[in-house]
Amino acid sequence: MEKVKIAVAKGRLADYAINLLHESGLDCSELQKPSRKLVFEIPEEGLEIILLKAADVPTYVEHGVVDVGIVGKDTLLEADKQLYEVLDLKFGKCKFAVAGKVDLPYNKMKHLTVASKYTNVTKKFFAEKGQSVEVIKQEGSVELAPIMGLADVIVDIVETGKTLKENGLIVLEDVAQISARLVVNKVSFKTKKKKVTALIERISKEIDKGEK
Ligand code: PRP
Repeated sequence: MEKVKIAVAKGRLADYAINLLHESGLDCSELQKPSRKLVFEIPEEGLEIILLKAADVPTYVEHGVVDVGIVGKDTLLEADKQLYEVLDLKFGKCKFAVAGKVDLPYNKMKHLTVASKYTNVTKKFFAEKGQSVEVIKQEGSVELAPIMGLADVIVDIVETGKTLKENGLIVLEDVAQISARLVVNKVSFKTKKKKVTALIERISKEIDKGEK
């Protein structure tokens, strides 16, 4: 049987993604147990599920090493890969935003220093605005940059807003809305059309149930 491989981003989306697949009728009970295993077979469905670091999911899907991926729109925007984004999975909702100190004259500044883990998203956003920026790449705890004086503002994920608040920062401008997405390799979409389409339909039905 032709196998379809699905990559799931590890981290904050993983539990939701695995539950969604399970509720869609794929037996993911093995994945729901605590384990360090990365590859899981669902032989009765001809499926394989692979757990990957979120940033690697678009790469694996683009190269066709896996056929389908579940990953956040944040990762997709930053990676900018050639793949089909077929479904908004409606979980993992948050946004990209510009944030900084309350008293920053953000709209009057001719040049901004911006710290972010998402340098591609940041450069694109400010280029489209025609705003002059210097972008400084960060690996995490980005909120520190304006506090410590490394940057004027940050571009980061805001979910509850708690991290910004607890560090004395506010949202200055929204950049993009984010949620988990189902993506498909462009070749697999044609060569494994029947199985991939059936999978999309099963997942889509499950999302619709949750919407009602
Ligand atoms: C993300 C983001 C913020 C926080 C926002 O960090 O970078 O720090 O979540 O969430 P909130 O609005 O609900 O407070 P993450 O936990 O992914 O870790 P990071 O610092 O490594 O980016």
